[in-house]
Amino acid sequence: MDDEDDYVIETLIPEEEVAARIKEIAAEISKDYAGKQLKLICVLKGGAYFMCELSKYITVPVQLDFMAVSSYGAGTVSTGNVRIKKDLDDSIMGEDVLVVEDIIDTGNTLSSLLKLLGAREPASLKLCTLLDKPDRRTVEDIKVDYCGFKIPDKFVVGYGLDYDERHRNLPYIGVLKFD
Ligand code: IMP
Ligand code: MG
Repeated sequence: MDDEDDYVIETLIPEEEVAARIKEIAAEISKDYAGKQLKLICVLKGGAYFMCELSKYITVPVQLDFMAVSSYGAGTVSTGNVRIKKDLDDSIMGEDVLVVEDIIDTGNTLSSLLKLLGAREPASLKLCTLLDKPDRRTVEDIKVDYCGFKIPDKFVVGYGLDYDERHRNLPYIGVLKFD
């Protein structure tokens, strides 16, 4: 249980701020994709909370699909190679695709994923992330089209983000403080 662990969770971005920012991004996306149909691709599991909330406020027609990838290696640092754990249900050829992520840290996961999806010939491929840690980026070729919040180099949880599969269900973004 949490009270046996050697860390506490401090609020970084409160629930109301996350909710308000998601509505702003949804409005921007709705404007940019006016007259089009959008395929949102959720990167599981972290992106699930963000994508569901975001999609509720997008006013162009949306379809949802899900993908799960994992980077090799354990711990809190991603190592570069991704493995597809669950692929999309449908083809994205000729579609306007927006990948929805929880966080971009080093960028390794996204860089591999975007290459893989780009090869499937969507009409367009853009990236939307709730959080971005730009200080940690090791991959240069990632263009973030929509970003909720730029955050400092801290390990965060909540709103889909986990620490050892825990705390995804927090309705705010918190920072882990280790003793
Ligand atoms: P990247 O490949 O280094 O960009 O890492 C991307 C993935 O690492 C994210 O989709 C998260 O699953 C995980 N991750 C990176 N930073 C954090 C964090 O601060 N909290 C929780 N998970 C994180
Ligand atoms: Mg994770």
